[in-house]
Amino acid sequence: MGSPSDQIVVRRVGELKGLVDVPGAKNSVLKLMAATILADGTYELSNVPAIVDVASMGDLLAAIGVRSESTEPGRLTLTNAGDLEPVAPYELVERIRASVNVLGPLLTRCGRVRLSMPGGDDFGARPIDMHVDGLEKMGAEFKFSHGELEATADRLHGADIVFGFPSVGATENIVTAAVYADGVTTIENAAREPEVVDLCEMLRSMGADITGIGTSRLVVRGVERGSLRPVRHRTVPDRIQAATYVAAVAVAGGELTIRDARAEHMENLLGRFAEMGLELSVEPGVLHVVAQGRLRSIDVQTLPYPGIATDYKPLVITMLSVADDVGIVTENLYPGRFRYVEELLRLGADVRTTGHHAVVRGVPRLSGAPVRAHDIRAGAAMVVAGLAAEGETVISGVAHIDRGYDDLVGRLASVGADIVRV
Ligand code: EPU
Repeated sequence: MGSPSDQIVVRRVGELKGLVDVPGAKNSVLKLMAATILADGTYELSNVPAIVDVASMGDLLAAIGVRSESTEPGRLTLTNAGDLEPVAPYELVERIRASVNVLGPLLTRCGRVRLSMPGGDDFGARPIDMHVDGLEKMGAEFKFSHGELEATADRLHGADIVFGFPSVGATENIVTAAVYADGVTTIENAAREPEVVDLCEMLRSMGADITGIGTSRLVVRGVERGSLRPVRHRTVPDRIQAATYVAAVAVAGGELTIRDARAEHMENLLGRFAEMGLELSVEPGVLHVVAQGRLRSIDVQTLPYPGIATDYKPLVITMLSVADDVGIVTENLYPGRFRYVEELLRLGADVRTTGHHAVVRGVPRLSGAPVRAHDIRAGAAMVVAGLAAEGETVISGVAHIDRGYDDLVGRLASVGADIVRV
C-alpha cells in the first residue's frame, strides 16, 4: 500500500465537485474481526475498508488462529478453525491500538490470554485500567510482568460494572467477554459510538443476548460457551472519513455528494458545521454539502458520543484556521492531542494551545509548506489544510494516513482536487 517514504503533494485549485463514497469504519471493522475469535466457522465481512490496520489485525488474528482472506475488494472472509493460541505478541500488538480488543474474546473463549501491553499513541498514554477492572469484576485474574499481561478465568461470571468514563475499547472488551459469562453483566455508562453499536449488532446476530444496544446501559446475558455461530456482516460506514470530505469541501469550496455518509451518526457535528455556514442536506444514506464562501468560527469541545468526537478535532481546527473570527476548541479525551497544531502553524495558521484548549484565529489564507502527519486523523487534517493553502503542501508520514484512510488521495482527486502521491 505504499512505502514509508511516500509523500502526498496537494495544491490549492479551488472548488471540489462530484460524488465520493464513504468506506467502512476502521474503528468498527477491527473489532468485528476480533469478535470472530468467539465462534468457530467462516465469517464474511463486507464494506471492509482497504487500510493498513485491517491487514495488521489480520496478522494478529492469524497468529492466534483465525485466517483471513480478501476474496474481492471490500470483502473479507475470516475462518476460525477452533484451534486457538491465546497469545498476542508485542510485534503485532504495537502496530494497532485495537489489538487490545482480542482480550475479551480470548479470555471468555479460551479461559486464558497473554497479551503484550498496548503502547501509547503520539497523542498520549492510553491506559487499559478500565478493561482490567471490569474483567476482574467478572472473575478474571491478571498478572503483569515484562510488558505483558496474563489473564486467566475458568469461566467468567456476570457482574455489574459502572464505568467512570464511557470508554469505547473497555465497553467492547467487557461486552465480548460477557457473551459467554455465567449470568448477567450490566455496563452502566457504556460507550454508545456507532462502532460499538455495530459490534453489538454483529454479536447479537451471532446469537449473543445483548439488550440496551446504543444506550449507556448495556445488559448481556451469557450464553453457553461455544453456542455462538459465524455470520455475514456489513461494516458501518466511517463517520470520520465522511467528515473528512465535508471538511475538504468546506475549506476548498464547491459542492459534494457524500454517499454512504450516515448523517444520523454525525448529528452534532453536522449541526455545528451548519453554524459555520455549510449548507447540508440529507437523504437516506447520502449527504449533500455546499460550501457558501468563508466559514464562521464556533467554539467546540470534544466529548464521547453523541458529542463531537476527538477524532474530528484536527479537521475542525483546520476549518477554523481559515474561518472568520476566533474559535476555541477544548479537548476532553486526550489532553496531548494537539501536536499537529505545530504543523498547521507551518502553513500560516494562527493557533495557540494552552492545556487542553486551542484558540484558533482565522487567517485569510494558508500557504503551502512541507508538513508531517503525526497520526491518522492529524494526517488527514494536513491533507485538508493543503486544499486551502496557496502553493504546494507536501505531507510526509503518509503511512499514518494509510492506517485508517481508504484511498483518500484517489477520492479527493476524483472530485477535482490537485493531489498526488509521490
Ligand atoms: N481510558 C482510560 N482507561 C481505560 C480506557 C480508556 O483512562 O482503560 C481513557 C483514555 O486514555 C482516553 C479516554 O479514556 O483518555 C478514551 O478512551 P477510549 O477507551 O474511549 O478510546 P479507545 O477505545 O482507546 C477509540 C478509537 C480512537 C478514538 C477513541 C475515542 C479505536 C481503535 N480507537 O479508542 O480512535 O479516538 O475511541 O473516541 O477504536 C483513531 O481512530 O485514530 C483513534 C485514535
